[in-house]
Amino acid sequence: MAKQSPIPLLTDGKRVDGRLPEEHRPVTMQVGVLPNANGSALVAYGNTVVLAAVYGPREPIPRYITVPDKAVVRVRYHMAPFSTDDRKNPAPTRREIEISKVVKQALETVVFLEQYPKSTIDVFLEVLQADGSTRVTSITAASLALADAGIPMRDLVVGVSVGKINDTVIVDLNKLEDNYGDGDLPIAIAYRKNWVLLMQLDGVWKPSEVKRGLELAFKAAENIYRNMREVLKGRYMAVIQQ
Ligand code: CDP
Repeated sequence: MAKQSPIPLLTDGKRVDGRLPEEHRPVTMQVGVLPNANGSALVAYGNTVVLAAVYGPREPIPRYITVPDKAVVRVRYHMAPFSTDDRKNPAPTRREIEISKVVKQALETVVFLEQYPKSTIDVFLEVLQADGSTRVTSITAASLALADAGIPMRDLVVGVSVGKINDTVIVDLNKLEDNYGDGDLPIAIAYRKNWVLLMQLDGVWKPSEVKRGLELAFKAAENIYRNMREVLKGRYMAVIQQ
């Protein structure tokens, strides 16, 4: 049973921030924000803001972590101490270790790892501001930063969260909805490939609700994917002109 929310999560079909169930928060994104990184991106889903930096492909330290015939993707997801209302302890938590692992798995499916034997691709994800859905925002940011680094990929990966308030399926959970809703389901989608790379279901869902959640996630992913392509195109044009 979900904890009781301090305020109603759904009133006359509208959510706490005035959105409709199928409405995503505004998404903004920039690439090439950190000149010293090989690739970088700053992505916001509403008030959730994530900075991604990619270093590599490069020779890893320590060297023993390499694999002879392909690259290894290392991911560090971290919430900045100032990203939440209560100061978050900067030491890595079990939650951060788990999120790093699932993001790594989603990314490794799309990167052409075999093109970079014996090397690592390091992805750093720093949550600058947390208001729900940080892992899916991180996935979008990581994918953009990898593309900004020029790393060949089968597809871009888009992260979208869906959730449930009573029987209503909603898209893009904010913190209140995540903490007090009846279920959440972060999803990673390689949109052009039509692949689902991550689904982490929490709560009790009917099959029809999962289906509705996937539909909403793909609909949201379509817009975000288009946005990602535009931002990358702008970036490549600027590089070509330079
Ligand atoms: O962020 P995401 O939804 O992927 O993961 P979660 O573990 O379901 O966390 C939901 C939300 O709780 C986060 O997005 C943050 O807004 C908040 N949170 C927090 O304020 N402090 C933490 N140490 C962990 C999460």
